[in-house]
Amino acid sequence: MSSALLDIHLTDDDADIALRADARAGLTASPKELPPKWFYDAAGSELFEQITELPEYYPTRTERALLERSVHEIAAASGAATLIELGSGSSAKTRLLLDAFREAGTLQRYVPQDVSASALRLAMDALALEYPGLALHGVVGDFTKHLHRLPGGDRRMVAFLGGTIGNLRPAQRARFLAQVRAVLEPGEQLLLGTGLVIDEPTVVAAYDDAAGVTAAFNRNVLHVLNRELHADFDVDAFTHVARWDREHEWIEMRLRAERAITVRVADLDLTVEFAAGEEMLTEISAKFHVEGVHAMLWAAGFGLSRSWTDPDNRFALTLATAE
Ligand SMILES: C[S@@+](CC[C@H](N)C(=O)[O-])C[C@H]1O[C@@H](n2cnc3c(N)ncnc32)[C@H](O)[C@@H]1O
Repeated sequence: MSSALLDIHLTDDDADIALRADARAGLTASPKELPPKWFYDAAGSELFEQITELPEYYPTRTERALLERSVHEIAAASGAATLIELGSGSSAKTRLLLDAFREAGTLQRYVPQDVSASALRLAMDALALEYPGLALHGVVGDFTKHLHRLPGGDRRMVAFLGGTIGNLRPAQRARFLAQVRAVLEPGEQLLLGTGLVIDEPTVVAAYDDAAGVTAAFNRNVLHVLNRELHADFDVDAFTHVARWDREHEWIEMRLRAERAITVRVADLDLTVEFAAGEEMLTEISAKFHVEGVHAMLWAAGFGLSRSWTDPDNRFALTLATAE
């Protein structure tokens, strides 16, 4: 029989306070900006799953193929008894890791952690049926705030897949990796998935698909503000923009107001003006060079075990060990 636990490090009240703070800061900033974690209500998490199936969205397919090639080596090198996954979402690709660790006979517990309680619950319900005998310990939490509350235990491996680390700016990334290192014991491991710098048309298309699913995902944050903070965004008046920033080597997703718009955010007692053509930043997705990944892991206190890349050098999986 499987046993399932769920820790809530982020209650609905905590999330409400955090959303209010982020919305006030971001909507009154110049330029305006919202953090990407607010995309992921139930509808946004479902839209992200649809994105992973799009022909243009190469990261998920590429990372899955890399995992297929490398999971047995990873399982053999790791010998982990606990797999913790940050930003686990649907845990779809993780099943490759769970299967390999199960074959290796070491894994006792899987700890998916996500800010989206709805995505986490769906994933855990499915995993409980598919992996009887594996202890499931879900955590609703924010990986930028709650790492110190992750469960302990010996022989842990933390997986952070999907290139999600690219949603953090360089200083946030460094702090995040230092925090991951701080919660691990020497010898415990981090498996990190990173998108690599590739040609501009391919990467832009991945974030601006022909079917408009990424556009709907981007605009979903306005639905979240309308529902949670009683705002009155005219969602259709905002256009999805995906642009490659050559200097920073990241994709920027923005929402552009197609006309001058006044938005009332009732719960914040805030009125926000958008000029015609004004853009609000909603996500960065940084791409990396393998040497840069190694350098940031080393700076955070990890020694390197190994990196795997696909033949087109679009994505890297790196297994690093806490020193
Ligand atoms: C780009 S998706 C990747 C999902 C999955 N790991 C994959 O590889 O397909 C990012 C995931 O991280 C979660 N997330 C975003 N910001 C987060 C945060 N600050 N703390 C915890 N989870 C977060 C989202 O809910 C979503 O499930």
